[in-house]
Amino acid sequence: MKVTKAVIPAAGLGTRVLPATKSMPKEMLPIVDKPAIQYIVEEAVHSGITDILIITNRGKGLIEDHFDRVPELEARLTSGGPEKEKILKEIVDISHMANIYFVRQKETRGLGHAVNCARSFVGKEPFAVLYGDDVIIGEDPACGQLIRAYEEFGLVC
Ligand code: UTP
Repeated sequence: MKVTKAVIPAAGLGTRVLPATKSMPKEMLPIVDKPAIQYIVEEAVHSGITDILIITNRGKGLIEDHFDRVPELEARLTSGGPEKEKILKEIVDISHMANIYFVRQKETRGLGHAVNCARSFVGKEPFAVLYGDDVIIGEDPACGQLIRAYEEFGLVC
């Protein structure tokens, strides 16, 4: 069965990177010019994933905002003429990369519990899990390599 769904747990407290994460989600910390979680969503999309569930928590609203449209910002960039065209396209594209859904992990009870919050999203389908703070950059996305291995060998227990 083709793997088209991914789950990204992003509801942790980020205690190892305090105080940076006191009010900023760890997954939103920038790496050069993009938040970490955008690299992760891009990795999933480049691996053939079409539907992504991000597990969030209180105080993680910035993640939802990042993958949403921002009409006021887009209008400002549009009126900025040709020199703003490239960044306008980048900003709009972020919200069209995949079908992105969100669910809250109501208590921070660990990674396994976070993934379990995706139970009804994945149903009986195989799915990928990408940690919301684990950026892996490569020409051949790591997630895609794992999906190919799954498709070739099936579930290995
Ligand atoms: P981590 O263990 O790296 O995240 O989990 P953490 O709990 O925020 O780390 P500390 O506090 O710095 O030690 C890997 C991923 O799983 C998510 C985190 O947000 C991170 O993206 N996670 C972790 C959840 O979604 N729920 C949890 O209960 C724990």
